Amino acid sequence: MASSDARLSVALVDVADGHEREFLTLATRFEALLLRKDYGRSEMIRDEAVPLRFYAVRRWADAAAAERCHADPDVQALTAAFTKIARVTHIVNGVRRSGPPGGFLQDRRAGAESDRRSGFDRRVKNVGPAGGGEQRSRERRLGPRRVRDGAGTVDLVGAARRAREHADAAYSHFKVGAALETADGTVITGCNIENATYGLTICAERVAMFKALSEGHRAFTRIAIVADTEAPTPPCGACRQILWEFGGNLEIVLANLREKRGTHRLKDLLPLPFDARLL
Ligand code: THU
Repeated sequence: MASSDARLSVALVDVADGHEREFLTLATRFEALLLRKDYGRSEMIRDEAVPLRFYAVRRWADAAAAERCHADPDVQALTAAFTKIARVTHIVNGVRRSGPPGGFLQDRRAGAESDRRSGFDRRVKNVGPAGGGEQRSRERRLGPRRVRDGAGTVDLVGAARRAREHADAAYSHFKVGAALETADGTVITGCNIENATYGLTICAERVAMFKALSEGHRAFTRIAIVADTEAPTPPCGACRQILWEFGGNLEIVLANLREKRGTHRLKDLLPLPFDARLL
């Protein structure tokens, strides 16, 4: 194991509420399996600061052992059981493989119910389900990883700058990145994606918001928007509407590649909004 061929993989694992015991049993079986078949070693380390969060540390004997492990039907059965009760976010992949990722380290949303907290417009007036029953997710909300820049603060602008690198702006050559912070401190990023028809282009802000909504997030605090311009790049009208409907009076942080260029409140950028209260 101390050989120079040894490879390390680390995954962040968020276990759904009420499934910890089952999860730990599976983890023990996984560890035993890796040892028995000489694939390597596995250790599940609890994050003492975050309930139900673990770090799965895998030390593969070598890259080939990791490959065999991923292809092993016993491992795949355990992996399937894991993904039913936990969200696994890949952090370090010591074994880069060609083709699509798979196996335990695949980043896959668990079978958790979506978060049912409503957005801004619905907080103002309850337009929830008929019968008015409070809808609470039984599972703990499981989302993407957090991005922290030290003493507990989220480097939202940094995340937006990194997201901008993925922009596909083949027509305008105007790359934009966005990073949306949820109420629980999770950061979800987006970039603009253009299209040959031009009209199907989607802005960075909406990509971030739709990604977040599709992962079950419903409560947001801030969004950072980054472009490579001296003057700040504020969200377009369509994005303001979407951000308002799903994020409410968000803090809007505008920045370029070097510095922050201003902070606004969405209600100031979208006065007299149209939203569900008017329907
Ligand atoms: N764009 C954004 O992604 N966000 C903004 O806030 C302004 C504009 C994109 C859309 C298009 O791909 C390019 O920038 C030029 O308009």
